[in-house]
Amino acid sequence: MKALILSGGKGTRLRPLTHTGAKQLVPVANKPILWYGIESIVAAGITDIGIILNPETGDEIQAKTGDGDRFGARITYIIQDSPDGLAHAVKVAQPFLGEDPFVMYLGDNLIQDRLDEFLDVFKGQQLDGVILLKQVPNPTAFGVAEVDARGRVLQLVEKPPVPPSDLALVGVYFFSPAIHEAIAQIQPSTRGELEITDAIQQLIRTDRAVEARQLQGWWLDTGKKDDLLAANRIILDTQLEADIAIAVEEGSQVLGRVRIGEGSVLRNSTVRGPAAIGRNCHLENCFIGPYSSIGDGVTLIDADIEHSVILEQAKIEGIDQRIVDSLIGERSHLKLAPNRPKALRFALGKDSQVELV
Ligand code: DAU
Repeated sequence: MKALILSGGKGTRLRPLTHTGAKQLVPVANKPILWYGIESIVAAGITDIGIILNPETGDEIQAKTGDGDRFGARITYIIQDSPDGLAHAVKVAQPFLGEDPFVMYLGDNLIQDRLDEFLDVFKGQQLDGVILLKQVPNPTAFGVAEVDARGRVLQLVEKPPVPPSDLALVGVYFFSPAIHEAIAQIQPSTRGELEITDAIQQLIRTDRAVEARQLQGWWLDTGKKDDLLAANRIILDTQLEADIAIAVEEGSQVLGRVRIGEGSVLRNSTVRGPAAIGRNCHLENCFIGPYSSIGDGVTLIDADIEHSVILEQAKIEGIDQRIVDSLIGERSHLKLAPNRPKALRFALGKDSQVELV
């Protein structure tokens, strides 16, 4: 059994958060989304992993993720020259996949459920496909499944304007090598992509055994600010282990479940967990409230932050109002003059959002 993680795609960034990085590397509780997928695959006992990359963001993903050693896996990187669809990515990966069954995992998806249970269904019943479904309020944004009263899949459609149900296809699939034949038989969709949804529909049409299971836990499609904050909150709540790698100076306090990386300094500051603070951060006269993730190398001086994600190397100074529900991109700089400012001065990049509430 192998795994194929799709981390290529259009190279469209998670706006406004990152214009420079791959969306699969956006951190949740200071760890790239992609790594949760890798860990979940390895936890299910699969260690031969292929990762699809695009030429634009591939180097960054490869440099950060490495050869798989840190996960106890062996990673093979596969370049997909153009983002011609999920099924196209499988086609490109065929030399890696060979005749092995595999789990396909979309690198921007984050799910709570362990994979073992679904893997058991897939292997135990010798199926050609297992798909995972989740009820969503906005099915038009996803692949959608129509199932009968006994849970059998009748039909799958990609982003239908009039959805046949509210059951979305989650970005984790199990396939036998029969999927390659199905992919060879489909045509690009109206959006010009070879859709995996159409390939699975082709499996069903040709009487191959495809089963659907509903996801019990949460599923996060981390495309938007609120999704990312929710993912951060859930991961901090359920997975964060207290680990403070520094000696906390007198005058500072760390309460509850908190992780602080090496080289960070806390001066006259309070951190109340669950919260994650990266390496080499400088915090002075700060309050960091629950559900905050502060990336490596962040500087916070006279700041009060709660339920927010601050990315690497950002700097926030002298903001006496509490910063809440916020997402601050890499190397952003926020500063308020010591006395009440008479004017606000901005240098905001494309797609920035500022709310003075
Ligand atoms: O998130 C679940 C949804 O993912 C499913 O409900 C849909 O049925 C499925 O088509 C997919 O829809 P998206 O439009 O959200 O897929 P997206 O283009 O965002 O790509 C998902 C991941 O696959 C992402 O990490 C990028 C990668 N990718 C995408 C394409 C189109 C590739 O590696 N190569 C590609 O050609």
